[in-house]
Amino acid sequence: KPAETTAVTTDTQSGTESTTAAETDPLTGPEAYGITFISDLADYEQYMDPAERDDYLILVNKTSTVSASDEPADLVDIADTRQDNRATQQMRLYAAKALEALFIEMRAYGYTDVSVTSAFRSYALQDKLFTKYTDNELQSHPGWPKEQAEAEVETYSARAGTSEHQTGLCCDMHNLPGADQAFANEAVYSWLEENAWKFGFTERFPKNKTEIPGYSYEPWHWRFVGRAAAYEMKQRGMCLEEYVE
Ligand code: DAL
Ligand code: ZN
Repeated sequence: KPAETTAVTTDTQSGTESTTAAETDPLTGPEAYGITFISDLADYEQYMDPAERDDYLILVNKTSTVSASDEPADLVDIADTRQDNRATQQMRLYAAKALEALFIEMRAYGYTDVSVTSAFRSYALQDKLFTKYTDNELQSHPGWPKEQAEAEVETYSARAGTSEHQTGLCCDMHNLPGADQAFANEAVYSWLEENAWKFGFTERFPKNKTEIPGYSYEPWHWRFVGRAAAYEMKQRGMCLEEYVE
């Protein structure tokens, strides 16, 4: 378990106890975690388990927000964007490389039909999406005031400035025509649930935690945090809010 140990020493002269925290060596390398990949992912190890572990724990949610001008400096095009008239998706370098490794292994297991439909989204794009969904709700519910439509949208789409898509550390991936909770019934989703942590990814909006981030279940939305954090979250059944806080 990658954690701190606490050493309690007794000062024999004063008889008082002092407590010092001594870092144990963090787990390093797939073997230390009991991971065996069937693909050669050695070149990706540095990304899946980044040296700067805390750099990938940024929390963005309804109360921990980002500003309109925030945009990561290390965005890169990702492999495996779905190309049906969509722009090529981008993520931050480490997340993009770790995701590439995940896709290589996922394919090696025979799951060849998953692609990424959305990853980094700017503040402006998130704003556009929120407005579009609000308009859709107003059309579906004639008579609803705008506030009601927005409140409904807020159960499944973030207002601009509150979406972690703006961090460039997450992506939506699935093998369906659209992002749908039915993805949870796909065999590849079970594979992701079991294996995504090995590549540094965690399920961001799990079924049993919806009240914490405050969105409905999104089996397609995966967040890069690095392997050490993803491992601990999986072991302890925590979502990102619980882990960070
Ligand atoms: N669908 C997630 C909550 C987002 O819009 O960021
Ligand atoms: Zn998403």
